[in-house]
Amino acid sequence: MDWTGRRVLVTGGAGFLGANLCHALSARGARVVALDGFLFGGGANPKNLEHSGVELVRGDIRDIDLRPLCEGASVIFNLAAQTSHMGGQADPLADIAVNAVAQVRLIQAAREAAPDAVVVHASTRQFYGRVQKLPVDENQPVAPPDANGVSKFAGEQYWMLEHRVRGRPVVSLRLTNCYGPRLRIRDARQTFLGIWIRCVLEGKSFEVWGGSQLRDMTYVDDVTEAFIRAAESPACHGGIFNIGGSPPASLLDLAEMTVRLAGPPARFDIREFPADRARIDIGSYHADDSAFRAAAGWAPAISLEEGIRRTLEWYRPRLADYL
Ligand SMILES: NC(=O)c1ccc[n+]([C@@H]2O[C@H](COP(=O)([O-])OP(=O)(O)OC[C@H]3O[C@@H](n4cnc5c(N)ncnc54)[C@H](O)[C@@H]3O)[C@@H](O)[C@H]2O)c1
Repeated sequence: MDWTGRRVLVTGGAGFLGANLCHALSARGARVVALDGFLFGGGANPKNLEHSGVELVRGDIRDIDLRPLCEGASVIFNLAAQTSHMGGQADPLADIAVNAVAQVRLIQAAREAAPDAVVVHASTRQFYGRVQKLPVDENQPVAPPDANGVSKFAGEQYWMLEHRVRGRPVVSLRLTNCYGPRLRIRDARQTFLGIWIRCVLEGKSFEVWGGSQLRDMTYVDDVTEAFIRAAESPACHGGIFNIGGSPPASLLDLAEMTVRLAGPPARFDIREFPADRARIDIGSYHADDSAFRAAAGWAPAISLEEGIRRTLEWYRPRLADYL
């Protein structure tokens, strides 16, 4: 697909994944509008879009008029979400307002203003819950472990309904843990790896909860490429796909790699899972993403070691901007 001059809307465009996608689309010549409400506790950071050439609209998908933003868009990348699992448990009404109700607002606005736009929706592996069988394919039963999983599943299903009933080309990507530049590292709100990176760069010890859980982390450039390929590939339209990443590694392996790559005095301590988190923890996960690889011709290109190295290098000179 030639992106030159194409109008593209990225919701959640100032956040971690959205901003990286905005940079990549802009570099391909697209005219990108990033919509972001800079929600408390999320990954939005004004620095994320610096030098991107992207138009940033500050607004909340729960109440902003979405029609003018959709007008003329040939692709909508839909990444805005309430992403906190503990936040969703504490306030499920606020969670569902963004992840489900506002999704229906966007669907209705897009019907009027961008009836032919391709939509790539950011979904999550979270709502598979604690799985019985690894790796996890798309036929795994859905059993959300928390309120955020329920609302994210509902949002995805509204979009897929739009495909089935109205024929809109929609792709839903069920992402695993993603990491890389522009991740929120100030605290542990956006994956455990964020706070680990902050700690090692500040020379402090970080905590590993449990340690045996398996994860297949996806480096952000690979996530960006997956979003773009999903939009570009008609074979993906109408599909729900798991997106995996590097071969599964335990949190302990990941912690040891992070410490080795950061160099002294980086270190960590192993802790029991806090009780409130253990109740909603999904245990081990890694994706069977062969369906997406076949449909989109995609494969992750960045190994875990290379990804962590690049992430540390990216943050070293920018630490102050992300604390
Ligand atoms: N990062 C991951 O590991 C991961 C894993 C699975 C799924 N996802 C999904 O990918 C998408 C992007 O996640 P991310 O990691 O970049 O998170 P993020 O918090 O960095 O990005 C989400 C962005 O959406 C914005 N937003 C939230 N509610 C909004 C609203 N009501 N109106 C306008 N903007 C709003 C936030 O301000 C934030 O910038 C989300 O849909 C998330 O569920 C991410």
